[in-house]
Amino acid sequence: MIEKESIPFAPQLIESMRSIGYSFETAIADLVDNSISANAKKIDIFLTPGSNPKLIIFDNGCGMDEKELEEALRYGSKNPIDERNDVDLGRFGLGLKSASLSQCRKLVVASKKNEKISCFSWDIDLVYEKKGWVIVEYIKEEINKLPMINLFNNVDSGTYVLLQNFDRISSSTSNLENTITNYMSTTMDHLALVFHRFLEDKVSIYVNNKKIEPVDPFLTNHKATQIMREQSFTIDKSTITLQPYILPFFNKLTPEDIKKVGGKDDLKNNQGFYIYRNKRLIIHGTWFRLARKEELGKLARIQVDIPSSLDYMWGIDIKKSSVNLPDLIKQNLYSAIVGSVIKSKNVHEYRGRKINNNVNYIWDRIEMRDNCYEYKINREMPQLKMLETSLNDKQLKLLSVIIENIENYFPIHSIYLDGAKGDINLDTKEDIDNLFNEIKIQLKFCEEHGLDSQIVLKELLKTEPYCKYEKLKEMFEYEVV
Ligand SMILES: Nc1ncnc2c1ncn2[C@@H]1O[C@H](COP(=O)(O)OP(=O)(O)OP(=O)(O)O)[C@@H](O)[C@H]1O
Ligand SMILES: [Mg+2]
Repeated sequence: MIEKESIPFAPQLIESMRSIGYSFETAIADLVDNSISANAKKIDIFLTPGSNPKLIIFDNGCGMDEKELEEALRYGSKNPIDERNDVDLGRFGLGLKSASLSQCRKLVVASKKNEKISCFSWDIDLVYEKKGWVIVEYIKEEINKLPMINLFNNVDSGTYVLLQNFDRISSSTSNLENTITNYMSTTMDHLALVFHRFLEDKVSIYVNNKKIEPVDPFLTNHKATQIMREQSFTIDKSTITLQPYILPFFNKLTPEDIKKVGGKDDLKNNQGFYIYRNKRLIIHGTWFRLARKEELGKLARIQVDIPSSLDYMWGIDIKKSSVNLPDLIKQNLYSAIVGSVIKSKNVHEYRGRKINNNVNYIWDRIEMRDNCYEYKINREMPQLKMLETSLNDKQLKLLSVIIENIENYFPIHSIYLDGAKGDINLDTKEDIDNLFNEIKIQLKFCEEHGLDSQIVLKELLKTEPYCKYEKLKEMFEYEVV
């Protein structure tokens, strides 16, 4: 046997590498990964206007010296099986080159470290011309001519990535500037979600000087979000943490909250696991086929934190946008789904009960965060609605104060103690004739106040305690006839 070296042909391989499936936003996110891994606290993205737009990503991270930068530009600059620290978002030694050149033909990277700026570029046209893996090193005068290169004046160290000649996007549109501007706006939403945990902490990202605000898909700070018990398990000495959340019912959400959770219409789609690798969101809104996406589970979201030390197990891809669920982890994830989907159903069923089961309850039991509940008097009760139409403003105010006081001074502690001792008399002394007369009084009230008594009767028969007695319906049918 004779060993032979089989060197890849540069133009072909570079061209193929451009097609590994990056979208504009996943490509930019891959470059932001690098800045965050370099411990940057501020990342500035600029899109220069014009028919030949340029994109610059500038960070104030640790930067690279000339040797490090030259190495960083090499395809496969790091071995994917090497161990990485737990704040490094990289894995393959490819992202800088493959993400950038998936979108454009020319990539220039300048970096400042120890007071010196070094700069290299990849140019696909040059690779074709030279038929080899050729990069170009820039001299000082050339560096000084780069757009916005004076950004380096404000930092001790940092990195500047310039993308230009967006050939692929250009071939798909007649107005490149517009299309890229639109892509940039989607990218801002993508970055706001993917990096929300960094943006909530110490990292800021600006696009053309506009700050990206984090989008927390769990609305952790909303007081009606339920934060359920955290679970964790260890695999191959690494810990995976699961944090289930149940979102508030959407009528409690502001339009801004609804946008954060991905829109009301997409709630069902966005339920599921949110997989974070070193705090960076990789994939979201999937149950990995362990469960179906049901309407009633749409408030359930589970944050899953996996360390990059388990990359080999999850089959993370170069674009950091997909993972496979390893068998070893399936069972643990499945139990988390069971708990949270059931919880999400409770929120819906409880809410739905008032409408779907056609019952007006007197007390609303409202689920709050930390598995706590609040009890409120149902303001939609027909009797309250009837009063609302007949009382003047002052009287209405008084009524509202009375209701609030009943809610706030509900003698919960003594009921709890008496209940525990079995000392509460639970006989409600409901007598069907009394209830019948009670309803009649209310209907008379309606007539006196110009309300449609038939509509009110229908509502009352759906309301506690009358709804419990089928016989009342018959009695009223008899009465009406
Ligand atoms: N903004 C940056 N600041 C400092 N160093 C950087 C920056 N971008 C890239 N590097 C260095 O260049 C190397 C190569 O980057 P590249 O994105 O190609 O691969 P990676 O991040 O190691 O892995 P992956 O392919 O998973 O992204 C990085 O490992 C890092 O050392
Ligand atoms: Mg990278």
